[in-house]
Amino acid sequence: MTAKRPRPILLKNYRPPAYLIDTVELDIALDPTRTRVHSRLKLRPNPKAEKKKEPLRLDGEHLELAEVRLDGRTLTGKDYRLDDTSLTLKKTPAKAFTLDITTYVNPEGNKALQGLYRTNGVYCTQCEAQGFRRISYYLDRPDVLATYTCRIEAEMDEAPVLLSNGNPLERGTLAGGKRHYAVWHDPYPKPCYLFALVGGDLSSIASTFRTMSGREVDLRIYVEHGKESRAGWAMDSLKRAMRWDEERFGREYDLDVFNIVAVSDFNMGAMENKGLNVFNDRLILASPETATDTIFEAIESVVAHEYFHNWTGNRITCRDWFQLCLKEGLTVFRDQEFSGDERSETVQRIIDVRRLKSLQFTEDAGPLAHPVRPESYIEINNFYTATVYEKGAELVRMIQTLLGRDYFRKGMDLYFDRHDGEAATVDEFITCFEDASGTDLSHFKRWYSQAGTPELVCDLHFDPEKKRARLDVEQVLPPTPGQPHKKPLDIPLKLGLLGGNGQDLPLKLDGGPVLEDGVVHITKRKQSFKFSDIPSRPVPSLLRGFSAPANITVDLSDQDLEFLIANDSDLFNRWQAANTYAMRTLIETVRRLAKGKKASHGMRYAKALSTAISGEGLENAYRAELLTLPSQADVARVIGKNVEPVSIQRAHRRLMKLVGRTLGDQLEDLYDELADEGPFSPDAEGAGRRAVRNAALTLLTARGEKPDLERLSRHYFTATNMTDRAHALYQLAAQRSSDRERALNDFYEQWQGDHIVIDTWFAAQAHSPLASTLSRVKALTRHPLFALTAPNKVRALIGTFALTNPVQFNRADGAGYTFLADQVLALDRLNPQIAARMLSAFRIWRSLEPKRRAKARSALSRVARAKGGSPDVQEIVSKMLEL
Ligand code: BES
Ligand code: ZN
Repeated sequence: MTAKRPRPILLKNYRPPAYLIDTVELDIALDPTRTRVHSRLKLRPNPKAEKKKEPLRLDGEHLELAEVRLDGRTLTGKDYRLDDTSLTLKKTPAKAFTLDITTYVNPEGNKALQGLYRTNGVYCTQCEAQGFRRISYYLDRPDVLATYTCRIEAEMDEAPVLLSNGNPLERGTLAGGKRHYAVWHDPYPKPCYLFALVGGDLSSIASTFRTMSGREVDLRIYVEHGKESRAGWAMDSLKRAMRWDEERFGREYDLDVFNIVAVSDFNMGAMENKGLNVFNDRLILASPETATDTIFEAIESVVAHEYFHNWTGNRITCRDWFQLCLKEGLTVFRDQEFSGDERSETVQRIIDVRRLKSLQFTEDAGPLAHPVRPESYIEINNFYTATVYEKGAELVRMIQTLLGRDYFRKGMDLYFDRHDGEAATVDEFITCFEDASGTDLSHFKRWYSQAGTPELVCDLHFDPEKKRARLDVEQVLPPTPGQPHKKPLDIPLKLGLLGGNGQDLPLKLDGGPVLEDGVVHITKRKQSFKFSDIPSRPVPSLLRGFSAPANITVDLSDQDLEFLIANDSDLFNRWQAANTYAMRTLIETVRRLAKGKKASHGMRYAKALSTAISGEGLENAYRAELLTLPSQADVARVIGKNVEPVSIQRAHRRLMKLVGRTLGDQLEDLYDELADEGPFSPDAEGAGRRAVRNAALTLLTARGEKPDLERLSRHYFTATNMTDRAHALYQLAAQRSSDRERALNDFYEQWQGDHIVIDTWFAAQAHSPLASTLSRVKALTRHPLFALTAPNKVRALIGTFALTNPVQFNRADGAGYTFLADQVLALDRLNPQIAARMLSAFRIWRSLEPKRRAKARSALSRVARAKGGSPDVQEIVSKMLEL
């Protein structure tokens, strides 16, 4: 028998469901290996169905079916068809009817972590995207909305805490107190992907929130016993997010309780189940001793993100999974805005753009490129991508830029008003903005269906006689898989023209108005804009605030970049100019090294950087961004073809060293002056201070002198918080000094008992550029604290190695590829979702130089040929190998 090839699901084949489900009553008796699930569904034929009299086909996987009753009558094998993925009833009534279905599932045996599983003794569920079908037979699609009542029963000492969505209704004891139950009711109709259940022996912290209309909401965060004191920051973040959504979007919380549960094994970061968010515990638990500032920031933004889904995702959900960006892109936009308001708008924008370019631009330039709203998929889990999330957020941001904040808010209000309680589409979302603002967005909508990163080729001409500047813009749209030809996009290009002493010149369009917001609309393939009353040759500052997810090319001299770094009023673009300058220097060095020339290059960049960081009134977090050079992966992405990772590494090291030397005194001053005094605070101020100091440390370490290495060791051994300690550990792991093992051993001794913190120990070793790294990583896969069944461990060790260590993963002998292929094949038998994610480390394989490319191809082919692989891995690998 040959395994049947899964067929792709197509957007154009969407049909409304043949049946609707109005209510779901679940009765679940928890047991480690044989949990009984009884489900009572009230169904009726959908009056809006296209075909009448379709048989009722329910989704179900990995289920043991015990009984089905239709309106009370037990069905026999003749009444239905059962296979690996479904239960189909041959005959159902023409009117409303009731189904009672009893199934059994094995939580302990569930290593895919979808559906009901057990982690660390805690029962929990993950239903997005299609996990509910592993709990019971159901119409597992997001446009079937029902109200849920859930009764959970369990051993009292195994699971004293029993939670589900909505509000608590009732609880009581059974079997003389040995067992107990709890009943939850969620009044808001929802698709089954938002269902959740938790049962376990957990501790919690509690607080309350008073909503804008004066209702009291009980907030609770459930964690492992003994970890309560580490949940405070998450609770604080939650309350700030709830307030922010009221103030910025007028959105109020709608249940009496809001619960968060932290679990140790989780495929993703967190999940927005209605009233019961489930989190990967690394994104809840934090204390100054155990978590870095980056983790504190991530907790703040992920807690906010999942909370914001309550309106963008839950109250208004998606009609089908092709509309995923409707909830994810929009909610990422909302969490970015929240973080920007809580911290620094500019620094947040820099962080978000860095992330967009490193993840999404890379994806868009490779074999996995797809539109923000894809048109086909085999495994939906493979489409929770940087394109759907990060580019999806950029599209919402562009709508805000195109319409202005007031009309944007009016459009959002209309969306909430018009579609509350519905499963909506991207088209309906856009229509709300058109209706609220009277703007036609039909051209703009191409962004949702065209993949690839547009390039804006810009040219600025100055006519000193007529005192006129002309900006020529051409949009170049590179082909992507399945989309060889593209139509021009509607692109908001925000710009400024800087006059001789660095000021912004008024943007007076020739024969037209002054551009108050500085935004011109690029709608055609080629366009020109003329600006009048320009006294002297201006320096253009283009794509301010990164007003569109595009690459920009413009002929700027080194002097122009230095001028922008010193003067641009748009602080994002000031940073961008410094980053462009560094990138230009790095690529030039790579080129020279390849030709065997001496790379005496970069002095001017270093000097410009020195001036930039001493700029007046700049926040520390911003200065830290200036001091963070483009990564080796960034350079590889910009080079784009025949990438040779070792020469990029050499160029990178030279520039780091040069900057370290040139800015030496300045960096030492920063390092000494900004030492933490007083108690630790995870806020933007404190984090910014530590970020500059750690960035300075990195550059000083790059000089490689004895005092520099001593400073590094001291930084590690005297650190009073995890931000400094982890930063130093990563650097030490890259050194060949004896302090490397001393620090790694120290870290292990101190944190081996903490399953979250120890991941930093795995990651620091996997990140090391030393030649011994691969054999170290292989040995660590056999370490007692490592487990392929624990996604966080896989990400910390294998993910860090494959995704963040360009030189050692892309070893010339191909051993890095062989290792990853082996790990992916082993993982695929346990957790296909994680296996497919790890495999994405190969997404840049076609851009490598020929020898590495051949080795990567043969590793990928081996994965493709393996028998019994999951659709998840097969879909990714076949796309990667397709031409
Ligand atoms: N809905 C997702 C979680 C999810 C993703 C479930 C994929 C099933 C499959 C959640 O809202 C989410 O987006 N989580 C992100 C973090 C977020 C801050 C971008 C995650 O888990 O990485
Ligand atoms: Zn989300």
